[in-house]
Amino acid sequence: MMYSEKVLDHFSNPRNVGEIENADGVGEIGNAKCGDIMKMYLKIDNGIITDAKFKTFGCGAAVATSSMATELIKGKSIDDALKLTNQAVVEALDGLPAVKIHCSVLAEQAVRSALSDYYTKQGIDPLPIVGEIKMPEE
Ligand code: FES
Repeated sequence: MMYSEKVLDHFSNPRNVGEIENADGVGEIGNAKCGDIMKMYLKIDNGIITDAKFKTFGCGAAVATSSMATELIKGKSIDDALKLTNQAVVEALDGLPAVKIHCSVLAEQAVRSALSDYYTKQGIDPLPIVGEIKMPEE
């Protein structure tokens, strides 16, 4: 089996699919090569991510990693969400095939992109806090 049970579960039964109306941060990230797009919506209260939803137009691994990423950041502080790496998402899913690792980068960067938008909306320059948003191209 190429995909773990957890990947298959999060692909066929993704958590937190949808949009958040009046989200505090909205991020969008695309991969130029495969054309997959991920949108991330965050509700943030007192520095805590109280809700996270996503819409992914992409491969199964992109769906599974966005689902897991939202699960991992819900209830966490912004600081913790900023520390979320694609590797942590992959580990939480019990691994991904090597050719699918780049899909998890999309999830990591979608979270960062939404946090960047959050700071921009607050009138705060996100760059020193969030850093550059990488457009994964592999
Ligand atoms: Fe594009 Fe997975 S193949 S994100």
